[in-house]
Amino acid sequence: KGLFTYDPGFVSTAACESKITYIDGEKGILLYRGYPIEQLAEKSDYLEVCYLLLNGELPDPGQKRKFVDIVTNHTMVHEQISYFFRGFRRDAHPMAIMVACVGALSAFYHDSLDINDAHHREVCAYRLIAKMPTLAAMCYKYSIGQPFMYPRNDLGYAENFLRMMFGTPCEEYRPSPVLARAMDLIFLLHADHEQNASTSTVRLAGSSGANPFACIASGIAALWGPAHGGANEAVLAMLQEIGDESHIPEFIERAKDPDDPFRLMGFGHRVYHNFDPRAKVMKASCDQVLSELGIDNEPLLQIAKQLEQIALQDDYFVKRKLYPNVDFYSGIIMKAIGIPTSMFTVIFALSRTIGWISHWNEFHSSPNRIGRPRQLYTGEKQRDYPA
Ligand code: CMC
Repeated sequence: KGLFTYDPGFVSTAACESKITYIDGEKGILLYRGYPIEQLAEKSDYLEVCYLLLNGELPDPGQKRKFVDIVTNHTMVHEQISYFFRGFRRDAHPMAIMVACVGALSAFYHDSLDINDAHHREVCAYRLIAKMPTLAAMCYKYSIGQPFMYPRNDLGYAENFLRMMFGTPCEEYRPSPVLARAMDLIFLLHADHEQNASTSTVRLAGSSGANPFACIASGIAALWGPAHGGANEAVLAMLQEIGDESHIPEFIERAKDPDDPFRLMGFGHRVYHNFDPRAKVMKASCDQVLSELGIDNEPLLQIAKQLEQIALQDDYFVKRKLYPNVDFYSGIIMKAIGIPTSMFTVIFALSRTIGWISHWNEFHSSPNRIGRPRQLYTGEKQRDYPA
């Protein structure tokens, strides 16, 4: 009754307490459980970061070995899941399939769905971390009509994913260590980002007591949009639309025009008003991958570099503190590795699953109540149904 705070877009509303991730958007700082993202990117790897986000501390070598073993043990998906794929058109967007298949995992693991049981919650986390790469690669294989590749548990997490994507039963595929590391880095840098739209969605869905697979499916759905995880796909679409370096100024002008809905994809961030620290690491990795593959001169990448330079010097972007975000470079790396654009957001979802499940677990590990935002009603006053 007039006591609510009106905060569209939740710009200044904290809906929870969390110990997982800290962001200082003005200074460009991102910490997972207190550790700077730059240090984790240099010294750690994705599965270790999963352990850290979930448990709050880095594992010792024994704990890490055990964690990797358990996750590895869950990499296969139930064979029945593979039949789901046949119900989809081959040209279905893989995010549509991911929403469906991850939600459907709820129907397979009745043995671990007690959300009040810490061990059940942990098992769900293992299953999700382990199965996301398998499901993601299955989406791609289905879209091109190739047989699904079963996971190989003797490979690293990123290596296994790339093999399931690009290997076939007739031809073994082993990515170079540089590409496997670049993939792992993409997973690591996307692992969590506090209360973004998809994580808040997972927390809100979880607050009703919904099972974790359904909650993660809701996060995948929220991530899909171009203002959030869909941006990496939109970046590549934009670069293709620009087509030639000579067209860049025209697109910059469009982005600045308040009457044109066009925005430079991969630029700007709700929280960062400084360089996105993930983008810095990603940019360095991007240069490494391009030189490893010997494709530094690829036209699309030249457009990206040129666009970045021009935008960073343009008053409009400088004044609004619109810097390239993580998605600007991750798309370029994934394209260079050979990952099709339609899979970009799926890879974001795969990476972010640990963040979602860690927040979901944190929510259920502390005193909580169902989320229920209020509204300012602006509709009709009470009126009578016409006689
Ligand atoms: N191109 C042109 N102008 C922009 C852009 C852009 N990419 N981003 C923001 N602006 C302008 C916007 O028009 C507004 O100008 P004015 O003050 O004159 O009205 C001002 O900057 C503030 O923008 P906003 O829409 O109020 O900012 P927001 O915090 O609501 O939106 C955003 C953040 C990320 C949705 C937005 O910057 C955007 O749409 N960026 C492009 C999409 C993108 O790259 N998204 C990925 C985000 S990072 C990955 C993730 O976490 O999901």
